[in-house]
Amino acid sequence: MKVIDPCTLVLFGASGNLSRIKLMPGLFRLDQAGRLPEKMAILSVGRSQVSREDWLADIKSMLDAKFPKGYDQAVFKRFIERHHYHANPPDDPSSFTRLKETLSDEAIFPQNLAYFLSVRPSDFAAIVDQLASVGLTEEGKYWRRVVVEKPFGTDLKSAQELQSSITKHLKESQIYRIDHYLGKSALQNIMLQRFANTILEPLWNKDYIDHVQITNTEQLGVGERTQFYDATGALRDMIQSHVLQTLALTAMEQPASLNPDDIRAEKIKVLEAIRPIPVDELEKYAFRAQYSSGEIKGEKVPGYLEELGDDSSVVETYAALKLFIDNPRWEGVPFYIRTAKRLHEADTRIAIRFKKAPLQLGNGQDQNWLIIGIQPRECIKFEIQSKIPGLDIATRTIELDGANRQEGDETIDAYEALLLNLMEGDNSLYLHISEVEAQWRLVDPVIEAWAKDRKPVHQYPAGSSDPEASKVIFEHEDQFWRYSIALGGDKK
Ligand code: BG6
Repeated sequence: MKVIDPCTLVLFGASGNLSRIKLMPGLFRLDQAGRLPEKMAILSVGRSQVSREDWLADIKSMLDAKFPKGYDQAVFKRFIERHHYHANPPDDPSSFTRLKETLSDEAIFPQNLAYFLSVRPSDFAAIVDQLASVGLTEEGKYWRRVVVEKPFGTDLKSAQELQSSITKHLKESQIYRIDHYLGKSALQNIMLQRFANTILEPLWNKDYIDHVQITNTEQLGVGERTQFYDATGALRDMIQSHVLQTLALTAMEQPASLNPDDIRAEKIKVLEAIRPIPVDELEKYAFRAQYSSGEIKGEKVPGYLEELGDDSSVVETYAALKLFIDNPRWEGVPFYIRTAKRLHEADTRIAIRFKKAPLQLGNGQDQNWLIIGIQPRECIKFEIQSKIPGLDIATRTIELDGANRQEGDETIDAYEALLLNLMEGDNSLYLHISEVEAQWRLVDPVIEAWAKDRKPVHQYPAGSSDPEASKVIFEHEDQFWRYSIALGGDKK
């Protein structure tokens, strides 16, 4: 366990959804696990005037909602004493000066400061400016760190603008850019499982691998977020961030060490080695679709355009890309990545199909798959060929199924891991600006081309599997989507 300096977490947007559902419960669980330093305060910053008493009651209501079966009252007592509230009404010019005054009370607030910006992305730069204007970002005896929630920009240009704005006041080492997938233990395990074993690495390259599929599908629709989603789309929402990060961990070279800088350096290298998608041949590389009405878990659900109330939208709820990584390890190996809302199942996985075996028995045996399940099942599975006992020579596919999560294992929310790393000063689970830039650089041309193309978008019924038409991106006729993690999931 790393030693954490006494510190104050300043939480902007503390009454918002993320804070209620993830941050406050996450901090509570860290306290319960004895992972918060004894001297640590949490200062919530919100727009409205709220008394400390009311704020503490609100925090209790967040915990009650998250832990309906109850929670440890002794921990709660310790936890609640850490909390304070500061009102920062947007029309008050002195609010940041007052914030500084509040924070200067060293008896209450340890002077190492982490600011968590759980606010509208359009407010990120302004808050950093204001903090800097009152001297709250300067490091000296004490550290200052700023957490920027997703999304970091909406394209390369806006990401670079945000970057140049905040780096007027902050060094790269002070900036913690969130991709909450990196806080998931199953994602961290990709790298560990690859490099802590000797049997995988020799196979992990173009000599043995036919192609890789990285999938992240949900049964959920866009829900209440129609306006946000229609300005965003699946490529920006999921591929630019979570799916490309999953790809980076799958494809990166072994880092020199597990230091944050070494890990990020390898991720940057592989992201930058992805070949730009040729927009003049876009249909061979990218496919989009929207869900129409259908059924999820036996219930009828409306289509995207109905939910949005605008049938002219061409924004995708399904996006698939074919990518190539131009480095010696991956030369010529297609990476098919896809994400969708309202698909037949919610599943995040990496599925690697190996090349044909040298010995072909003539009964059309399947190729080997290696599958890493991220969620809901955390597992690693091999599908291999094995003789069917009997007089004839024939094979069938059997699976070796290893559970990465076993009964009794702890369940840690991604935000718990991220918050802990923030206080420890370990930014390996946060994005470096070069990763963010490489990710935008890759998806921007596709987003632009799709936005210009106003032809009606291909529809798939909610609850169905991938649209047939998505197959156009496959490089070879014998490549096809793997529909499920289960044995036989490569057959429709
Ligand atoms: C968010 C996206 O970043 O990730 C959402 O904005 C998506 O659209 C969510 O539903 C998925 O996260 P998780 O952790 O539930 O897989």
